[in-house]
Amino acid sequence: MVAEFEVYHYDEAAERILRQTRHRPTLGLILGSGLGSLADAVESPTVVDYADIPHFPFSTVPGHSGRLVIGQLAGAPVCVMQGRFHYYEGYSLQQTTLPVRVMQRMGIRTLILTNAAGGLNPSFAVGDLMLVEDHINFVGMAGNNPLRGPNLDSFGPRFPAANRIYSKHLRGLALEVAARRELILQRGVYIMLGGPNFETPAEIRMLRTLGGDAVGMSTVPEALVAHHAGMDVLAISTITNLTIDALDAAHEPSHEEVQEAGKVIVPRLSGLLLGVVERLAP
Ligand code: HPA
Repeated sequence: MVAEFEVYHYDEAAERILRQTRHRPTLGLILGSGLGSLADAVESPTVVDYADIPHFPFSTVPGHSGRLVIGQLAGAPVCVMQGRFHYYEGYSLQQTTLPVRVMQRMGIRTLILTNAAGGLNPSFAVGDLMLVEDHINFVGMAGNNPLRGPNLDSFGPRFPAANRIYSKHLRGLALEVAARRELILQRGVYIMLGGPNFETPAEIRMLRTLGGDAVGMSTVPEALVAHHAGMDVLAISTITNLTIDALDAAHEPSHEEVQEAGKVIVPRLSGLLLGVVERLAP
């Protein structure tokens, strides 16, 4: 049995973070692989290392730094997670999503999730942004869910609905900002697998048949926990590589390729997110 977190664990972490900053963030951002440099745009930042927050796990993946950057972004008080936790690192899904509940206890009511993903939809190109409209939770289907275990009623209900996870309002805002800034914003279904291996060609063909547009190893547990806790959720996938559906292709996807693509994508993603955050500023 995995260790269960109690409400006071989340409260302790939230209090410790808020004690270190004068900012009172209402907006949370979680940055995916290769996208961490977005945190550099935060003004008058307070930086809190995960190691200094009680109950927080550590980030073990290259390209994920492991700190919170709290400050002002485009006029809004934000808390940016530079480095997230993944299931494949060996953490339980409750551990990977602990920061989301901590943010909720800090007073954050809107969460923007970003990720690196492989493109399944053949009309997508490397470097595209994709608005996540819905997801398929492969890791959850057999019962491995971050909400498994005793329900904490102060966050949300035992049996939460999942048909309205990605806020219609925020999706509309993202599409508006993308149109105004002339950024390509694809839309689609994100499929979460556990990783850490990339997919086999047969798996890629299957995922496409199932209706996936992008595939990755994160985001879904955080979106579920945030939605359960009453937060408005926006998720943007960055298409860092095309997925390989044929045997014996010369190319293999790699983490280096994902990080490399991040460099090209960061300016586009910043453009989109700054536009959205500006509209959410008080
Ligand atoms: N598959 C799974 N996860 C990923 C990929 C991929 O192709 N690219 C980035 N994250």
